[in-house]
Amino acid sequence: MRDQIARITEEAQAAIDAAPATPALEDVRIKYLGRKAELPNLLRGVAALEPDQRAAVGKAANEARRALEDAIERKAQALAASELRRRLAKDRVDVTLPADPRPATGRLHLITQTQREIEDVFVGLGFNVAEGPEVETVYYNFDALNHAPTHPSRLLTDTFYVKPAGDIFDPNAVLLRVHTSPVQVRAMEAQPPPIYIVMPGRVYRPDSDATHSPQFHQVEGLAVDTDITLGDLQGTLLAFARAIFGEERQVRLRPHFFPFTEPSVEVDVSCFNCRQGVAADGERCSLCKGTAWIEILGAGMVDPNVLDYVRENGYDPEQVQGFAFGMGIERIAMLKHGVPDLRLLYDNDVRFLEQFG
Ligand code: PHE
Repeated sequence: MRDQIARITEEAQAAIDAAPATPALEDVRIKYLGRKAELPNLLRGVAALEPDQRAAVGKAANEARRALEDAIERKAQALAASELRRRLAKDRVDVTLPADPRPATGRLHLITQTQREIEDVFVGLGFNVAEGPEVETVYYNFDALNHAPTHPSRLLTDTFYVKPAGDIFDPNAVLLRVHTSPVQVRAMEAQPPPIYIVMPGRVYRPDSDATHSPQFHQVEGLAVDTDITLGDLQGTLLAFARAIFGEERQVRLRPHFFPFTEPSVEVDVSCFNCRQGVAADGERCSLCKGTAWIEILGAGMVDPNVLDYVRENGYDPEQVQGFAFGMGIERIAMLKHGVPDLRLLYDNDVRFLEQFG
């Protein structure tokens, strides 16, 4: 019987050593230690032995079983470790490699690109960039910008009030700003003259069609110093128009009205799509409607009444004067890139957006 135990042990040990993987080792365990295996069977037969042999054979068989169990456990751990190593080596991902297929690189939205382009032009001319809140008060949006109480923009049809039930003539009434001009006042409250700033941001009006969106973007400009003239405004806007629309551009100023500038002007840029209103195909230019000029923004000399609201902050209208302007970013982008419908800018169809940048 002891020979038998020795033979089984030797055989089992060889099988354990040879097991190439975890499933094969499990087969070995079942074959040599399972319920139907030789060794356990043999152990069961020990009871039938002569009493003087029983103890020694039983001990040998038990030791053999424990030795095999240990050997299998050690082998199982070794196999598991090497299998894990192999799996990890196979699964290794080099996160520094470009993905396949390479993911599309994002780009800035055309409105953001245009806003930054406009900011860059004015930063190049010595202006700083400032921002103000989109949720404003009647005071900053209208009163301090010299809007008469009767000004039609104040009506519920022209302005989104946050609490329309209240008194819309209360200076503290809250609204969504209809233009970036309130930032002029906030900036002057925050900083004494001289001030040269552009103020980009979102604005809101109850309008919606191919050229109007209830939410759009403007860039406001403000320069206040001791010797600012309308000529400075014209020269600044000429530099701007040439930087954005091409070096051959001209600008012209037409009289207009804004409550917060006096005199006020609308500013046109010479058409970059035609000659004297005649397109390359000999037809009337569709961009400028044959007029050779395209309106791009509103501007003027800061009204002394506006400066009066910030007199305490160093803006004595007898001492300083300035110019201001405001333009729609969407309008600049549409003109520059020939975008036919404002809504294309908000649909976020990648086939449209992909064309820019
Ligand atoms: N705030 C005016 C508008 O929204 C534009 C403007 C700004 C005009 C500054 C003059 C000076 O139409």
